[in-house]
Amino acid sequence: MFDRLVQGKVPRKHHLVFKGEDGALLHEECFTREGFEGPYTILYHQHRPHAHRRVEVPHGWRAPTPAAERPLSRRHYLTGKAPKLSGAPVDVRMPLLFNADVVLSVVQPTAADPVYFANGDGDDLYFIHQGSGLVRSVLGDLRFGADDYLFIPRGLVHRLLPDPGVAQHWLSIECLGGLHLPKQWRNEVGQLRMDAPYCHRDFRRVELAAPRDEGIRELLVKRGHAFSGFRFEDAPLDVVGWDGTVYPWVFPILNFQPRAGLVHLPPTWHGTFATRGALICSFVPRMTDFHPEAIPCPYPHASPDCDEILYYVRGNFTSRRGVGAASISHHPAGILHGPHPGAYEASIGTTRTDELAVMLDTTLPLSTTAAATDLEDPGYHESFC
Ligand SMILES: [Fe+2]
Repeated sequence: MFDRLVQGKVPRKHHLVFKGEDGALLHEECFTREGFEGPYTILYHQHRPHAHRRVEVPHGWRAPTPAAERPLSRRHYLTGKAPKLSGAPVDVRMPLLFNADVVLSVVQPTAADPVYFANGDGDDLYFIHQGSGLVRSVLGDLRFGADDYLFIPRGLVHRLLPDPGVAQHWLSIECLGGLHLPKQWRNEVGQLRMDAPYCHRDFRRVELAAPRDEGIRELLVKRGHAFSGFRFEDAPLDVVGWDGTVYPWVFPILNFQPRAGLVHLPPTWHGTFATRGALICSFVPRMTDFHPEAIPCPYPHASPDCDEILYYVRGNFTSRRGVGAASISHHPAGILHGPHPGAYEASIGTTRTDELAVMLDTTLPLSTTAAATDLEDPGYHESFC
């Protein structure tokens, strides 16, 4: 998944007798991916990590369900107008667009998660548009803030603690097939290549804290978009050490190194993260194309294999008008899309762009929830004429 970290104390080999300072045997947990074939992390707990009973834990958000079928159209959703539900991240996540690979939601929490949460469906990638806070997990704590991508691996026991009194607006990209860095950015030993658009130093990693008892025993687990509750016998934040490659990290979007070309480079050059059925791209402020006759504005294009999502953060979007911060545009496969009238011509001679946006290309068509249709700008499709 990522570079190997060692935190706290671990024994000299897997699965050997390993005792804590009080002489009690510690309990190993293998946190694996792709069965036992993929990346993994091994943790050492003071208590048996699987000792929990089933109980009711009355939390969770609404599963994504499609709104009534509609004709194909270019769509624009104003997520800044999403109703401000009061509550914790585990309760206020609002799915907007989804398929079998990804679920895009908006999250505007006003409180900390009151229970631990483990997402058994997929990895959670958040883009923190507004706000800040902390993820607290069995692997340790990690702070996040505006303009950060926050990654939380599938199945990790954690809580999200938004900073109190700070307005929060997060884009959640739930990756049901697991998230990874595009393979072309790694060399044969897994290190990020020197020509990758980021390096190991650009990522912030979780840091293990001493075992703690927060007084919380409830665990909410999501699997198949349904929630189940459990109660731990002991405090779950009891890890004295771990090593491995699966853990939460933060990548500030502005650490992405953009590229410019002689003429326009397609979005694949901005590829940041990959997941089953989707490429996640970052558009950050950059110089534009440097051919004296270059047209920096993107071309009209048909991507018959992809639905295209753009989440606008800030800056001037040379190709679009009427979109603003927290807008999502959805350009489905099957119909052409491109710049708004005049944008193509106006871009000639410009030397830089200050746009900041997150983009997804998905191979499966995206369905829309009723929550998204409530936020729709009805004139968007015709605004290109
Ligand atoms: Fe496009």
